Amino acid sequence: MTEQLFRRKPAEMLLAEAASHAGGLKRALRAMDLTLLGVGAIVGAGIFVLTGVAAAEYAGPGVTLSFVVAGFACAMAALCYAEFAAMIPIAGSAYSYSYATMGELIGWIIGWDLVLEYAVGAAAVAAGWSGYLAVILNGMGVHLPHALTHAPERGALMQMDLPALLIVLLVSAVLYVGISESARVNSAIVMVKLFAIAVVILVGVFYVRPNNWSPFVPFGWRGVMRGAAVIFFAYIGFDAVSTAAEEVVDPNRDLPIGILASLFLCTLLYLAVAAVLTGMVPALQIDIKAPLASAFVLRGLNVVAGIVSLGAVAGLTSVLLVLLLGQSRIFFAISRDGLLPPIFSRIHPVYRTPYWPTTLTGVVVGVTAALLPIQEIAELANIGTLFAFVLVCLGLWILRRVDPARPRPFRTPMVPMVPILGVISCGYLVLSLPLVTWIRFFVWMALGMVIYFGYGRYHSRVEAAARAELRAAASRG
Ligand code: ALA
Repeated sequence: MTEQLFRRKPAEMLLAEAASHAGGLKRALRAMDLTLLGVGAIVGAGIFVLTGVAAAEYAGPGVTLSFVVAGFACAMAALCYAEFAAMIPIAGSAYSYSYATMGELIGWIIGWDLVLEYAVGAAAVAAGWSGYLAVILNGMGVHLPHALTHAPERGALMQMDLPALLIVLLVSAVLYVGISESARVNSAIVMVKLFAIAVVILVGVFYVRPNNWSPFVPFGWRGVMRGAAVIFFAYIGFDAVSTAAEEVVDPNRDLPIGILASLFLCTLLYLAVAAVLTGMVPALQIDIKAPLASAFVLRGLNVVAGIVSLGAVAGLTSVLLVLLLGQSRIFFAISRDGLLPPIFSRIHPVYRTPYWPTTLTGVVVGVTAALLPIQEIAELANIGTLFAFVLVCLGLWILRRVDPARPRPFRTPMVPMVPILGVISCGYLVLSLPLVTWIRFFVWMALGMVIYFGYGRYHSRVEAAARAELRAAASRG
């Protein structure tokens, strides 16, 4: 059995699958497209919403430092990610890399953990979307009732965030009938979103009052770290670049560039937005539902607030699409390996989409978004992603030692320092998360173990192939 837990998925099997389902996917993407793809997946509820939560509740203007800390942890993980992505350039993300390099159990753990990153992350984005929709509607004089736009709170349990539920169902319906993810549509939405961010920075900078920046760290280093553990969410998504691996002209070169450049670009934007927001509004007055738009409303700039909100609503919709799509693909890949029931990889006869995981994900994500506050959802997504990053960093280091000869088109610099710093910084962020998040995480991972040891282990295709091979060898004598 131990042998099975660490059985790796053979590279030939991965490449054969890639060849069969790629069906000659057109290799048209270059480093620039990948960078835009990455920015499209990254810029979302983190910067548009959680910056406000982190500044108002934990870090004050020091949220800028929180962005530096979380950005550093991501940079270390991204450098490790880039080596894996270039080494095994096929769609399927960290799940496929770890299955191929560290064996079935770790592969499953990362795959199960990615559900937190993608599905739970999508729920947080939907909740953020709802906040900005409210700003737009308010601007038009439409005020939805509080009980229909907020997750249950203390003393008000009979309420839900209905717009968050509806947008998840709508996007899932689009994914159900199939969407051809055209790089051009994505680029257009990315531009709208970046325009909104640019407006925040370039207009907002004229309304900065430097005395709002002091005290800079009202709650000390602990506050900065607690803030970092929340806004880490803003960086999630750079790994989405690697899922386009099979459509890249020169994956060995362009994938690492795409991953690192999109992360770098977003870090710069985030630092600027955080500095402007905390300079415009005293930290304690920052609105936590739609902070970037509300900062302009406070200054009487309603038109600017409207532009920012429209950009946010469009931009968050695209992030939601990417995350929900990623989730159903991950379920699809895991099920194709036999670790989840075959229904998860069944293709719809007419729409040719994995409709079962799409439907299930849509319903569960929608209900989560409607019933939990955005911060709690985002923290659960964060702990899951941080855990995956720690495993990826460790995996890289271990693989360098046990398999030094494997061709590595991109080599992470300064190994083992970079992976060790990645483990320490991601680990430190995990420690800054509250106990309730830890408990939810452990419950989720325990459920994963039950599924693996109750189902996956007995249905693994890789295991079945290995056994068949053994039997064939035995009968050949
Ligand atoms: N980084 C993405 C966001 O902030 C997930 O919405």
